[in-house]
Amino acid sequence: MRGIFITMEGPDGAGKTTQIERLKEYLTEKGYDVLLTREPGGTVISEAIRGLLLDPEHKEMKPSTELLLYAAARAQLVGEVIGPAVEAGKAVISDRFVDSSVVYQGIARGLGVETVYAVNRPAIGEYMPDVTFLLDLPAEVGIARKKNQAELDRMEQESIDFHKKVAEGYRTLAARDPERILTVDATLPIDTICDMIKGKVNELLAG
Ligand code: TYD
Repeated sequence: MRGIFITMEGPDGAGKTTQIERLKEYLTEKGYDVLLTREPGGTVISEAIRGLLLDPEHKEMKPSTELLLYAAARAQLVGEVIGPAVEAGKAVISDRFVDSSVVYQGIARGLGVETVYAVNRPAIGEYMPDVTFLLDLPAEVGIARKKNQAELDRMEQESIDFHKKVAEGYRTLAARDPERILTVDATLPIDTICDMIKGKVNELLAG
């Protein structure tokens, strides 16, 4: 039996990691074999590419290089981890997926949504998420949260205008595909967000 593929998306600092951990616990309690992964990363090769992408020293990186590296990391993750896990009937939860490229590279960097899909088609094949949660919050709030936590990576160091384009880009994407992309207000309390996500996942599993 084919498994289920869930992705978590949102601007930097939206709190994806906490929600993913909670959802994993919940699905595990329900008896699912859960596989957690993250982008860029999740395999040895993809984690090495993550290092290239997020190193704050790599300020000279061209937008097209960035697009191709995210897609390359994704191709390896889908081929090595996500595809086999879904085929084995697992519940796969990924911290970011192709929607991140559509928004960050396609919209915020301005490379164009169609270009992003074209480049990513060979990377993702038939593996589009069954459901995607968008943790929506104002760019300023997300970046302020990040600044409190750790040193900012290359993407997080981008201008506030860039991050505003990201937040707005996600809203546009969700409005275009409301069947798959479910928006949750990430400024709500953690437990409230968690309950909303669980409710939606239950509906999906029942349907
Ligand atoms: P992430 O690991 O989610 O960062 P953090 O855990 O610190 O919030 O993502 C790393 C960064 O890469 C994030 O700024 C978003 C960016 N990104 C893209 O620009 N394109 C992509 O396709 C992906 C997957 C991530």
